[in-house]
Amino acid sequence: MRKKLVAANWKLNGSPEFVDSMMFELAKVKCDTVDCAVFPPFVFIPQVKSALPAGWQLGAQNVSLYEQGAFTGEVAADMVVACGGSLALVGHSERRSLFAETDAEVAKKVAVALKSGMDVVLCVGESLAERNSDETMAVIQRQLEAGFSLVSPEDVSRVCVAYEPVWAIGTGVTATPEQAQEVHHNIRALLRVLQPGAESAVRIIYGGSVKAANVSDLFVMPDIDGALVGGASLDAKEFSAICEAA
Ligand code: G3P
Repeated sequence: MRKKLVAANWKLNGSPEFVDSMMFELAKVKCDTVDCAVFPPFVFIPQVKSALPAGWQLGAQNVSLYEQGAFTGEVAADMVVACGGSLALVGHSERRSLFAETDAEVAKKVAVALKSGMDVVLCVGESLAERNSDETMAVIQRQLEAGFSLVSPEDVSRVCVAYEPVWAIGTGVTATPEQAQEVHHNIRALLRVLQPGAESAVRIIYGGSVKAANVSDLFVMPDIDGALVGGASLDAKEFSAICEAA
């Protein structure tokens, strides 16, 4: 049985005061049966690290393709590790759609993050148009194959897949448990082909309008191994309830 992972993606939100109050509240979360993680904006990583509850993972919402040098504005994976990060979110749909991140760049970022010692949460998911034209699994297969293309067999278990249907992100329209389970099941079958053994070693978590009110119905599904939470993670009470539902 895979231990669930519940991760907060704060996206472009927060302030030093927000971090202080949020981390004070998250310290109360009972998460001995679930792995919990938080992805703050880069600038708050040291402050979050200083207040991170025991057993929690701290992650970066992105990493540079590059390890160091003349790349203004970038943040290297090694720099995140030096500040206490151990997890990298790679290929989020907002990076793909708003910042034109390609499958090839996602593949490279996965490799750079793993090389730095961080584990990876690899995001995949289809748009509404792709779902409506029955392209969901073709899109996800393309994204998975690219995301794992530079991952060595011994590192496969360090990658977690986050299925985030783009049409459910920030919309309040959550995939039904059945819709999510169907895609997660198919992702697991693809992982089996990609790398025998990966289907049991790799966690597949769901993201897209997860709330305390809907998370339990998602978590009972056999192939849903946790949640990647956006908006609801900015509310300590809501996110704590999601963690404790696992
Ligand atoms: O990375 C998680 C995020 O994309 C989901 O956002 O606001 O729909 O929970 P939200």
